[in-house]
Amino acid sequence: MDKFQINGGVALDGEIEIYSAKNSVLALLAASILTDEQVVIHSCPKIGDVYSMIKILESLGCRIIWQNNSVVIDSSNADKYEIPQSYGKEIRSSIFMLGSILGRFRKAKAVFPGGCDIGLRPIDLHLKGLRELNIEVKEHGANIICSAENARGKKIHLDFPSVGATENIMLAGVLIKGKTVICNAAKEPEIVCLQDMLCKMGAKVSGAGTGTIEIEGVKKLKGVEFTPISDRIVAGTYLIAAAMTKGKVYIKNCRPNDLTSLISKLNGVACDILSNDDSILVKGYERPQSVLMVETSPYPGFPTDLQAQILALQTVSQGTSMIVENIFETRFKHVGELIKMGAEIVVKDRYAIVRGVPKLYGTQVFAHDLRGGAALVLAGLAAEGSTTVENVYHIDRGYCQMEEDLKSLGASIKRITC
Ligand code: UD1
Repeated sequence: MDKFQINGGVALDGEIEIYSAKNSVLALLAASILTDEQVVIHSCPKIGDVYSMIKILESLGCRIIWQNNSVVIDSSNADKYEIPQSYGKEIRSSIFMLGSILGRFRKAKAVFPGGCDIGLRPIDLHLKGLRELNIEVKEHGANIICSAENARGKKIHLDFPSVGATENIMLAGVLIKGKTVICNAAKEPEIVCLQDMLCKMGAKVSGAGTGTIEIEGVKKLKGVEFTPISDRIVAGTYLIAAAMTKGKVYIKNCRPNDLTSLISKLNGVACDILSNDDSILVKGYERPQSVLMVETSPYPGFPTDLQAQILALQTVSQGTSMIVENIFETRFKHVGELIKMGAEIVVKDRYAIVRGVPKLYGTQVFAHDLRGGAALVLAGLAAEGSTTVENVYHIDRGYCQMEEDLKSLGASIKRITC
């Protein structure tokens, strides 16, 4: 298992370009099977979760080739409707495939999904939504077996605006008879991106980005070439890295409007931030001030996927900060590792209180999940001395060669392949 070795204390300096959003690409790959024509997704990051999703598509009979950074999916010969257990357990997004496989084959078999260990992560909203579309869903041990022979559109209310459930129901709804309406839908930019690609394929979907999404079923979808939106979480991670290292970083090909909740917290407090339509310039402060409170919530609230990184920033900021994690129950596994580096943090239930210290000190730490792992890398960059981040495979699931990006900004970081 690879690890990162980081010599901290270097202020990041330079320019970085952000690639397409993992969470968009995964939903778009799932959508690709809704047509038997060719789908091309440009600017696709070569990250663990994308490779896992591609393996699932191949197991269904799709032919996939990479052309530089574009993924070309030919599912004309796809003939299987079952997600193999080993792949399904690897990646949470395999569950979105239920909706799209049902759209294509009218039947689907999946397993309860895997993904980061950050909470209970049930799929009840997904299954309830599918059942409301008159899709038969049987749960047999670890397996989920569905039939969409009698599926028809309906008005569905989600008890919580789940990103995955919204996407799954959108994917299930586009090729079934009648009108599907999703109330209390997730509003994340990745949902809008999915709607955009589905519409380009000939689907009739509207309302994404608001709490109500309407889908008018059509008979067939066509092929598409599509470039997804850039990754707001990767951009946010590098923004925080610049602030933590007192650096100066110009982040290109990003979407500052998707990061308003982060920018408004940090600008003038931890760093200076200047942004235009598609770039952000961050200039760190000698001693960032703590953010009084950060509370994660569904978009446009503060993203849970940036909670670990902003918490890491608070460990070296002046003052005390309260971080509230409202989305996932056990998403504070990075805290124990940051404490090993000298951070002062207490956690009680969903609350973490962080008292900033003048310095963190390098040591051996373990990534327990994707974003928590990224936060440890940021802490290593800011710390005095050498930090080893173990279990880099978690970070590789969502960041494309993070060490190369950071090296290009002057960081002293190397990957050690064991
Ligand atoms: C997606 C993102 C993930 C992000 C999360 C929240 C992808 C591939 N992943 O994950 O990076 O952290 O949104 O922004 O896009 N829930 C239920 N029942 C369900 C579904 C969800 O109770 O059937 C709960 C979850 O346990 C969690 C909350 O709803 O507490 C949010 O989950 P959800 O929005 O579904 O997250 P994901 O789609 O898994």
